[in-house]
Parts: sequence; structure tokens; C-alpha cells
Amino acid sequence: MKIAALCAAFLFCTATARAQSPLLANVGGRHSLSLDGRWQTIIDPYENGFYDYRYQESPNGYFKNAKPKSPSDLVEYDFDNSPLLYVPGDWNSQDERLLFYEGTVWYKKSFDYTRRPGTRLFVHFGAANYDTFVYLNGEKLGRHEGGFTPFDFEVTNLVRERDNFLVVKVDNKRRRDAVPTLNTDWWNYGGLTRSVALVEVPDTFVRDYFVQLKKGSREEVAGWVKLDGPASANQTVNVEIPEAKIKQTFRTDADGLAPLSLKARLDLWSPENPKLYRVVVNAGSDTVEERVGFRSIETRGTDILLNGRPVFLRGISIHEESPLRGGRAFNDADARMLLTWAKELGCNFVRLAHYPHNEQMTRVADELGLMVWSEVPVYWTILWDDPGTFANAKNQLGEMIARDRNRASVVLWSVANETPVGEARNRFLRGLVEHARALDPTRLLTAANERHYEGPDTQVVDDPLGESLDVLGCNEYVGWYDGPPEKADRLTWKVTLGKPLVISEFGGDALFGNHGDKGQRWTEEYQRDLYEHQLKMLRRIPALRGMSPWILTDFRSPRRPLPRIQDFYNRKGLISNRGERKQAFYVLQSFYQELAREGK
Ligand code: GCU
Repeated sequence: MKIAALCAAFLFCTATARAQSPLLANVGGRHSLSLDGRWQTIIDPYENGFYDYRYQESPNGYFKNAKPKSPSDLVEYDFDNSPLLYVPGDWNSQDERLLFYEGTVWYKKSFDYTRRPGTRLFVHFGAANYDTFVYLNGEKLGRHEGGFTPFDFEVTNLVRERDNFLVVKVDNKRRRDAVPTLNTDWWNYGGLTRSVALVEVPDTFVRDYFVQLKKGSREEVAGWVKLDGPASANQTVNVEIPEAKIKQTFRTDADGLAPLSLKARLDLWSPENPKLYRVVVNAGSDTVEERVGFRSIETRGTDILLNGRPVFLRGISIHEESPLRGGRAFNDADARMLLTWAKELGCNFVRLAHYPHNEQMTRVADELGLMVWSEVPVYWTILWDDPGTFANAKNQLGEMIARDRNRASVVLWSVANETPVGEARNRFLRGLVEHARALDPTRLLTAANERHYEGPDTQVVDDPLGESLDVLGCNEYVGWYDGPPEKADRLTWKVTLGKPLVISEFGGDALFGNHGDKGQRWTEEYQRDLYEHQLKMLRRIPALRGMSPWILTDFRSPRRPLPRIQDFYNRKGLISNRGERKQAFYVLQSFYQELAREGK
């Protein structure tokens, strides 16, 4: 791994993040004060709290948290008497007036804080959808764009012992130049959708680290440790894996970066044996630790190799939605429910669509033994030739990798979903692939690519982007958008490039409890029949090495209004949004049991 390139990429990706600190790794393993709970909020559809009457950014916006100084003073807002919303949590599912709301909501949280001497303080956001400005005590900390990745700001010199007020402006308006762009098939849940915390670290601390098996090795752990602070250079760093009787010391260079490499005979992580080790990283007075799995993931021809052995990805796609509660999933319980349902289905793999899910999903996947496809929301018709859009996508990709680079479960980074082939799009996506490889040379790169018909009965997967990828993803909807289910019986597939193919989506809608003849759309029988025809066809594709049918559970979408059937839900779930299993659930479950018996 080219450390210098990595360091440059590391700094580049943070520099484009606009005035925010490089990402703090493993926040859960640090000294922190949670700011979760009820925040005061102001709904602001006209940006009245941000712009003055000329629509210029006002120096006296809501972030000042102003109070009348005399009875005659005019202040037309008051956080302390405004409605409350829970954080973490999208606003759409907390207040029915906000179900379809797209605009700005201002959040405010007051807190006292006594910072210990010799420490620094950061405010850390698990995510906020979509465009976020953060202020502390009336000072702008900065801005973050992107709805599904963590970010933080240093507040060491701004925080005071009492009456701090943290004000956050979150705007989920869709924009043509954004990532994702205007059109998506999921609900535009806005707000502080994941946890917020104050994180206290020593003056010089372990900011980030990468501890995984070296690419192509199963006996060598490689990576690096990055320190931050006045005593970062030429500093001793200790890395320990107690159970493996490993304790080794390394030294940082002038930039505070210590390459690490150590021989290790480890019990390798796999879905059958999701072995996690306690890994401890110490430098000076800072020690962080977490549970890490070690495994290798490679391709050889059309095979995907996990720990050197061919593996078939028995998967399912998942949106980050809590089916029973509704709204964005965000906690450990949501993650366990969704991923336990995937295990019940017989999966060893999940595609976390179409954006980085919350951190609990990848940590629970580590624990339960589920391989993960993790993707950035470069979805459909992105503004391919806009440099700002590319920098935004690159930054979100960098933040996704920075957060989950030590998660054994994550085996695939995906840079796109169903994006129309074209020169600008190919350039954009190749740039993302390059960036991902510079940040993480250990994982496989993929995308849900395009395909096309050659004559009426041959599907061809030859998307030019495939040349830059390790694994070819491809969505297809034979039986739903593309002919009746029986059309699958006569199709053949041509996969060029000699790489592994994963059918990253197929499926059809069914309303749970809606029954009829299998030729009748929206019935469970139709969906079941579609799965039966699809699975027979997929079995015939020689280069197929995995699948993640669309989708585990019904999910909200503004594009699905059909009354009494959709009611603004996409009904392709194998499980309804009330947790009821449809007939097709059992068809896929028995197919996966068959594959598992065949050792796939
Ligand atoms: C597309 C897309 C999904 C969408 C699905 C559908 O393949 O990737 O995001 O939900 O089709 O139409 O249900």
C-alpha cells in the first residue's frame, strides 16, 4: 500500500469536506458524552432563519439563539418554546405534518461541559440528511453535505463550562447536482438521523487506523495508525491483539503516520465462523480498542474467494428502514432485527442499498457473520460532468471507507447503482473506483451495472465500467418490468470480461395477504411465481457467484402511490412493513438451503 498516496488521499478527502476535521475513527470506543434525546426544533421552509429578506446569508440567523433583551425587543423565534424531535431519528416519521416535508429544520441542544485538562473536544455526527450547517455558541463550525456518512468538528476552543448551545441546520431538499440527485426510489427522510456525541480525546490522540490482513495474505496484518496533535511525529504506537498473543510497537513519521505490519496466525472471520478479536491501539495517553475480524477477499477468474476458498454470496438487499417502527433505522436493535431476518432467510451476504447504512449495521454484520456490499448513493441520473458533484461523491465514498475500513463483514465497495452508460459517467465512476482503491486496496470494487438485450432472448452484461471493477453487479427485473415471469425460462445470459457476476437486484411487488391467481399482479402468488422462474434462470448463468434479490422488507417510496396496494410503499419486500413473511420468502429460503447443502 502506497502510504504517501493514502495520506494524500486521506487529506484530499477531508479537504473537500469543507472545514471539518478528518474523521474520528471508532467513536464508540472513546470517552464521549451523548447528545441524543429530545432537541428543540424550528421548521423553516422559507430559510427564514438562514437568509435575510434579500435572501443573503444573515449574520443574525437562528444559530444565534437570540433572546429579547427588553420587552420591546423583536425576536421572532424561540428554540426554548419550540417543538421537540428525537435525535437520532428522521423528522418524517416523528410528526405526520413532516411526512412529506422537504426543506430545513433547525435543531438546538444546550449542554454544560467541563473539559479535562490536556484534552481536546469534538462534536461527532453519525449522519444528517442531507445538507448540514453546524454552529456552537453562535459560531459556525462548518458544513457537511451527504446524508449517510459521519462527520465531526473540533470544538476545543469554543466549548465553555455552562450553557453551550449547539445549533444544527439540516436541509433535505433534493438538488439536481447532489448525490443522490432529484429522483430516487426511497423516502427522503430528513434530519439528524443518527446519533450525536461530544468526543473527548487527549491533546495527541489516535485519530484513525487501518488494521486488516494485507491484500493476498492470510498471515500478515498490514495497515497504519494516524495520530493527531502536537506530539504526533516520531511517536511510539502499540498495537495489541491479546488473544493472538500479539503486541508490537511501531513509530510514526513526521506526519504522525505509522505504517504497521505484523505476522499473525489468526482464526479467520467467515459467515460460518464470525471470529472477532479485541484489537487495542495505544499511543501516548490515548488507547482505543474494538472487536475486529480478519479475513481475505479476492477474485480468481469468475470466482470470489473468501479466505482462499470459492464462496457464493447468498444475499438480500436491504434499505435502512425500521419496518416495525417506520422511518430510518439507526440503532443496534434495528440492525439486529433486519440482519437476523436475513440470517433466517439463509443469507451469508447483504447488500446495504443504496447508501452507507448506520454503523450498527456493519458492526452487527461482523458479529452475525454476514458479508456486506456497501455503496454510495451514486444512483440513476447523477450530474456526471459537474466537478462539485464528483467531489461530493468522492467525499462520501471516503467517509464510508474511513468509517468501515476495519469491518471484516464489508467485502465490497460499490460506486454506483443503475447509471446510464456514457463517457462522462464512465469517467466519473472510474474516478471513484480509483479513489476507493487508493484508500483501501484490500476490498473488492463493484457497482450495479447496466445490461442490454442482444436479440429477444439473450441478456448481455458488458458495461464498460466492468473493466475497472472486480465483481460485476447487475440489476434485472425479468417478470416484473420486463415481461411475465415465464419469460425467464427462455433467456440466456452472456457475461463478458470473465469476472464474477452478482445479480444485485431482481424481484416483484406483492401486498402481504393479497391472494389470487399467479397471473395477477400484486398478489403473493405472482411474486412467488416470479421467484420460482427467476431462480431457475439464475442457476443457468455460469459466471453467477451471488445474488441480492430486491428486497428484504417493503419500504416507503414517494414513487409508489397506488391506493390500497402501494400507499407510498414499494412492495417488493419478502417481508411486509409489519414483519409478515410473504410466500416468496420461503421460496428463496429453500433455494438458499439447497445452495448451502451444495456447499455454496
Ligand atoms: C431499481 C432500483 C431500486 C428500485 C427498484 C424498483 O432497480 O435500483 O432502487 O427500488 O428498481 O423499481 O423497485
